[in-house]
Amino acid sequence: MNILIIGSGVIGLSTAFELALSGHNVRVVTRNYEEGSSWVAGGMLAPYSEGLTGDLLRFSVESLSLYSDFIRRLEEVSRLNVYFNRNGILRLFLNEKEYEEARRQASDDYRNTDFEELSGKDLRSREPFLSGEPIGGILFKEEGNVDSEKLMDALLFACENLSVKILLDDIVEIEKKNGKVEGVKGLKDSYTADFYVFTTGAWSRPLLNLPVYPVKGQILKIKGPELEKVYYSNISYIIPKENYILIGATSEDAGFDSRPTVGGVKSLLEGAVRIIPSLAEAELLNVKVGFRPGTPDEKPVFEAGENYVISVGHYRNGILWAPLSARMVLDLVDKGIRSPYFDTFSGKRFSE
Ligand code: GLY
Repeated sequence: MNILIIGSGVIGLSTAFELALSGHNVRVVTRNYEEGSSWVAGGMLAPYSEGLTGDLLRFSVESLSLYSDFIRRLEEVSRLNVYFNRNGILRLFLNEKEYEEARRQASDDYRNTDFEELSGKDLRSREPFLSGEPIGGILFKEEGNVDSEKLMDALLFACENLSVKILLDDIVEIEKKNGKVEGVKGLKDSYTADFYVFTTGAWSRPLLNLPVYPVKGQILKIKGPELEKVYYSNISYIIPKENYILIGATSEDAGFDSRPTVGGVKSLLEGAVRIIPSLAEAELLNVKVGFRPGTPDEKPVFEAGENYVISVGHYRNGILWAPLSARMVLDLVDKGIRSPYFDTFSGKRFSE
């Protein structure tokens, strides 16, 4: 089948990868393949540390369970290594109330995952480089961490190796008749296909008329001490990769303002040093800015039309949700299986 994917963030490229691997003829049209928030993402695979519940928790855990196989196949096709582990994430708490609530949530909602509660005393003996500020923590042992830049590089290489064409254009109009997409128009050209997938991230609103808006995030790259796992608190998350550490992230309602700011950097640095004081000696490498595709209820939006799919609004968890979002499109196109998540996260919830 000839398939056109509009958007080249992690959702678009993962979908392109799965469809091309399954033998489809795939083109990706993008306004700028370096612009997606996926390049800036922290890459934490953290359903529990993010405090997700209900449908979102189920969706997240299912996508996490696909991750190892997704990375294995991606590495094979791209011939690149992608830094990925399931070493766990240590969720840290700075006050009793927060810690109490998190422990209650863990024992009620997170019974099916392996976690360990750590008191302040446990933290001081097991994680001696932490400051005295965290009063307790929960180690979610099955959570993971992937290098988003390497993941995106591997997706681009894998797509190239599978003959996926990447076209540069800004799609501004969808031509629809009787519920079917007949073509899409860009600033440069028009495109037709047998099937269309819209993965337009934070840029979805004008094209798809859905309430998806940019939530600006600034994140720092530093070179510092070797850390084994992610340290996640409300004032900063510290995410070790192979050769660097990420310090995340601001969350700002600032439209598409792509400037790194002094205030943003200051708050990130202060937050990180309050958790691990020795990071003050680390080398500051750079600041990156991205735009999370936010929705009013912080849930993604999926729609399966006659010859198209919409897969947008992945907000803070696009990296985590990529394997399952891609699998949903593949199952629909190849087997006619319509995932129940198309109903759970239907865009109709915003018009009802
Ligand atoms: N997933 C973390 C963030 O979006 O900041």
